[in-house]
Amino acid sequence: MLIGIPKETKEGERRVSLTPDVAKSLINAGYSVQVESGAGEGASFSDDDYKNAGANIVDKDKVYSSSQVVMKVNNASAAELGLMKKDAVYMSLMFASANREIVAAGASAGISMFSMDAIPRISRAQKMDVLSSQSNLAGYKTVMLGAHYLGKIFPMLMTAAGTIKPSRVVIMGAGVAGLQAIATAKRLGAIVEVSDIRPETKEQVESLGGKYIEVKGDASVKTGGGYVTSVSDEFLKMQQELLFKHITQADLVITTALIPGKKAPVLVTEDMVKNMRPGSVIVDMAVEQGGNCPLSEVNKVVVKHGVTIVGEANLPSLLPMNASDLYAKNIQAFLLHLSTKDGFKWEMDEEITKGSLIVHQGKIVHPSVA
Ligand code: NAI
Repeated sequence: MLIGIPKETKEGERRVSLTPDVAKSLINAGYSVQVESGAGEGASFSDDDYKNAGANIVDKDKVYSSSQVVMKVNNASAAELGLMKKDAVYMSLMFASANREIVAAGASAGISMFSMDAIPRISRAQKMDVLSSQSNLAGYKTVMLGAHYLGKIFPMLMTAAGTIKPSRVVIMGAGVAGLQAIATAKRLGAIVEVSDIRPETKEQVESLGGKYIEVKGDASVKTGGGYVTSVSDEFLKMQQELLFKHITQADLVITTALIPGKKAPVLVTEDMVKNMRPGSVIVDMAVEQGGNCPLSEVNKVVVKHGVTIVGEANLPSLLPMNASDLYAKNIQAFLLHLSTKDGFKWEMDEEITKGSLIVHQGKIVHPSVA
């Protein structure tokens, strides 16, 4: 089977879907790989690195028009999908229900499409879990960005000239990204306080050395599958009041709260920002879903009421070497699950296939978009 790796075209994207090491491992398993010239540049992999791994370097049209499976990080354009062979297979982070025009373009090209973000979060699929691998790195990077914009160090420092107090970091949301942010901020010596509304996170936070800010959920808080699925506006208001003191006393606030498929909950209000110390920093990971802070702006660093608010929407791309490496390992595991070197297995009732297959041979099959 011939695998094609195009160069990512989304602005600012530095990741690549397959690294030379993973290409080599797939070639050893009997697959062939062709890579668009320059595809690995943003992540510091040269065409020669891919050639040395046994891949061919070709132009973009050839990648799309001759590969049996095209593997990307972000969505391809409708024109690019139109170049693909009928019956070829495409996989990327599609976020299908938010990108229906791409689903339609793939269907009219007669191809099959798998969405990496729709792979079920079951134990068996952990090695394919791109959302976790990328969020983990993103959580680390939030702390690095916060530390960069804060005019203070994190640890306590005793010097002849006096003692510097440690910085206070508040992390909202202890999912994949939040837990990595806690571990990273602790390693740098900050005092770390954390809040989440799934009760099981308390133990996880404390095991990483974070102080848990207890906010008891009310009847409106619904959870399932490791996610909060809904909360009421009344609950959020009560939560904001409880957290006011913690947030306004923080040097750095990192927000990672997410409710899948919905606008991000507001956790840091403008009033809180007004009451934070000038020079404090907020890093809002949920900026693309509307933001946990209403003042954050997508892909901008803004200063509001003296507080620096970072709204970077593609944090994994700021760590393109690790992010590409983990993405490539995830997508390799996914491909090896779905296919042999001779072709796709199409086990239509199998849970991972069923969960992530959006379009099958030109027909839209996923319930979220069908
Ligand atoms: P996750 O689902 O593992 O964690 C989200 C956490 O937020 C959960 O633990 C949940 O219980 C918590 N939460 C929900 N409502 C809350 C509330 N009202 N108060 C406190 N906690 C609440 O998600 P993950 O993978 O950690 O990602 C976090 C966020 O970062 C998401 O919005 C995701 O889309 C975004 N993200 C952004 C990236 C970027 O580059 N900016 C990269 C990766 C993820």
